[in-house]
Amino acid sequence: MMPMKIKTIGSRVLREETEKVKEFGEDIPAFIENMKITMVEGKGIGLAAPQVGDSRKIITVHYDFEKRGRIIEMINPEITSFGSETEKSEEGCLSIPGITGVVDRPLEIEVKYQDIDGREHVQGFSGLNARIIQHEVDHLNSVLFVDRLSYAKKLMIKGKLKKLEEEARQG
Ligand code: CO
Repeated sequence: MMPMKIKTIGSRVLREETEKVKEFGEDIPAFIENMKITMVEGKGIGLAAPQVGDSRKIITVHYDFEKRGRIIEMINPEITSFGSETEKSEEGCLSIPGITGVVDRPLEIEVKYQDIDGREHVQGFSGLNARIIQHEVDHLNSVLFVDRLSYAKKLMIKGKLKKLEEEARQG
């Protein structure tokens, strides 16, 4: 399997509505495997299907990254509750190369999702795991981390973003 091409900011697919996965089986396991390969190759710790040009609600997450954990997948993930405590931390995104910024996010979340066989799970996550999942679920809602930066930071990166967007439009 070959890594897929990562769509960068300015590509329409990153801002399009995503569809729920209804059919399990078929191409899903191979597609997810390919997402994981693409994520590792790109040195990312999370990836959402729209980033490889596929509008289905699928994400991969490097679970327990700091403890060299494993890469998990979530199909149709939905964050069902957010803890009240938040934390500011720096994020980047494979679709926005060369730009990082501080995003304030809840430290704890509860997520409802389906596994590769379509079985439903409800699970709590915290810390970096929770942050990655929120970042990837944002992708499924057409939101990019740069949308969540402070106004001052947005002004600072405006030129760089514009350049990336132009490059993406030119293919
Ligand atoms: Co991202």
